[in-house]
Amino acid sequence: MSDIIKIKEEYISKLNQDIDLNQVNQFKTELFGKNGKISNEFKKMGSIPADVRKKFASDLNAIKDEIQNLISKKIQEIEIQEINLKIKNEKVDVTLPERSFSQGRIHPVSQVIDEISSIFSEIGFNVEEGPDVENEYNNFSALNTPENHPARDMHDTFYLDKNKEFLLRTHTSPVQVRTMVKGKPPFKIIAPGRTYRSDSDQTHSPMFHQVEGLHIDKNINMGHLKGCLNYFIKEFFEVDKIKMRFRPSHFPFTEPSAEVDIGYEVKDGKIVIGEGNKWLEILGCGMVHPNVLKNVKVDTLKYQGYAFGIGIDRLAMLKYGINDLRAFFETDYRWLNHFGFDPLDVPSSYRGLSR
Ligand code: DAH
Repeated sequence: MSDIIKIKEEYISKLNQDIDLNQVNQFKTELFGKNGKISNEFKKMGSIPADVRKKFASDLNAIKDEIQNLISKKIQEIEIQEINLKIKNEKVDVTLPERSFSQGRIHPVSQVIDEISSIFSEIGFNVEEGPDVENEYNNFSALNTPENHPARDMHDTFYLDKNKEFLLRTHTSPVQVRTMVKGKPPFKIIAPGRTYRSDSDQTHSPMFHQVEGLHIDKNINMGHLKGCLNYFIKEFFEVDKIKMRFRPSHFPFTEPSAEVDIGYEVKDGKIVIGEGNKWLEILGCGMVHPNVLKNVKVDTLKYQGYAFGIGIDRLAMLKYGINDLRAFFETDYRWLNHFGFDPLDVPSSYRGLSR
């Protein structure tokens, strides 16, 4: 019996010292582990004479309970101490000035892409995307533009290899091809994105933006094309009426083809869309050439439709009164602060496209 009283006293005094959680766990093992001091006392039980065994057992159990209670209390105490220390060290000083942060602005081109996507999605167009690096087939051949066709020079293409197999897409029209080969008609999509041509002056930049439109179904005709563009331009410029003019043109991938101008005038140095006698060309369009449909395995006896390609940068300049295209790509932070948009102001026709 004196053994276990010694053990008890030894550990009570150890537990009363300033110890950490590891040490408490260490004591626990020393006492109650497989070869622990208390565990070993329990193992002695069988060899204890029967007359004192009962008392031994009850004393041993009492000591065991006492030490275990002490250990639990100690653990609780240490944990509370740790929490208090943490609270003390992590005190928030609410009187400190806030950390400065700056909020970015949405670039006018991104804003206009969002506006365009919002307008077209409301009349049933899906938004598709294609890669900037295209192959020659999607960019030209599939679009009925044979080799040696002047359009290939006209586009001043950035080719990426000697064999002219890969290039930076010169227009968003290859997304028409990508969309049609991977799906089944009807198709009703727009495809906004970056396009590239070797061209640079006040109104041309080697990287610019277009949005392609494609609507293929049974019985789609030029009337639908006109209606769709008319609707789009009115919504985009947020005006009730516009003047729109279709001029006959040529694109290899459409037949017939047209270029579309919108009427405008300059009032107090500002461009006003929808009035006046001046004309601004904003897009190319037409009925998709049967050869294009054949290339993407669409049955031309059942399906037909229209396509269009709009220059996004031009639209952004017109709508937001920006007169030098190059400013778009100069990454001047002051310019972006002035012409940029609030990131939380997502354009939609319900909430107002632009504010
Ligand atoms: N891809 C033409 C260009 O970049 C624009 C265009 C014209 C697109 C007519 C079309 C279209 O889809 O039908 O000049």
